[in-house]
Amino acid sequence: MARDHTPVAVVTGGGSGIGKALCAVLAREGWSVAVADRDAAAAETVAREVGGFAHSVDVADETSVGALFAAVAAKFGRLDGLATSAGVVDTTPFADISVATFERVHAVNVIGTFLCIREAAKKMQRGGRMCTVASVAGKRGGGLSGTAAYAASKGAVLALSRSAARSLAAQGITVNCVAPGATLTPMLAERFNDLEHRRRVEGMTLLGRSAEPAEIAEAIAWLLSPRSSFVAGETLTIDGGLMLD
Ligand SMILES: NC(=O)c1ccc[n+]([C@@H]2O[C@H](COP(=O)([O-])OP(=O)(O)OC[C@H]3O[C@@H](n4cnc5c(N)ncnc54)[C@H](O)[C@@H]3O)[C@@H](O)[C@H]2O)c1
Repeated sequence: MARDHTPVAVVTGGGSGIGKALCAVLAREGWSVAVADRDAAAAETVAREVGGFAHSVDVADETSVGALFAAVAAKFGRLDGLATSAGVVDTTPFADISVATFERVHAVNVIGTFLCIREAAKKMQRGGRMCTVASVAGKRGGGLSGTAAYAASKGAVLALSRSAARSLAAQGITVNCVAPGATLTPMLAERFNDLEHRRRVEGMTLLGRSAEPAEIAEAIAWLLSPRSSFVAGETLTIDGGLMLD
């Protein structure tokens, strides 16, 4: 059991996309990384690549989330950072969104984020830092790829992050949030097969393109590091200037 001063981070959704890129950045910066994902094989692969610890978790399941943080405590004996990148998108047209779809998206994106923050806070010492992952969809009400269930869930993540920041400050834990714009990950791949759609979305940014996952991961790594020590309850929009207009 490693009981040294190496900081330890849990990255949910670490098996793919933004979470996977973050695992690589954190490992490079000297963190021990717990790669947590519903896709156990993907978590194993990333953990092997970054020299981390893989754990399979369903963030929407309270017992599963409890088991994740118990396993991390048993393995490392400390917890310094949490990034909640596990998420699902939904692109169903408004009139066709079922209650079941709405609930499924919220179970992962909202309740999953809440459960991870709550359980991580029980294990973190003072100085702990958390970063959630919302989306510009939560600010704009969608309008890129995700529709109402997704946009509403990401709006909830924005508010949840601020609320958690207020509640956990007294414990010496800071909570911040990133709101990415379109980012080239498997989540977006199918929607971006429609090149006209992709051109429209990328044309809305100042930079005329989507983000690479590492460009979001760098910002999250900064928000988890002591270099952002006076940043609390903040949402960092990383969208190539899309929200400017
Ligand atoms: N890609 C984008 O354009 C974009 C833009 C804004 C926000 N985001 C957000 O960034 C986050 C990461 O998305 P991504 O683009 O890297 O997508 P991705 O699909 O590449 O990765 C998401 C990961 O979350 C995991 N996951 C899904 N449900 C889970 C659950 N219940 N429990 C545990 N793990 C689960 C998946 O297995 C996957 O590995 C998401 O919250 C997404 O909404 C993405």
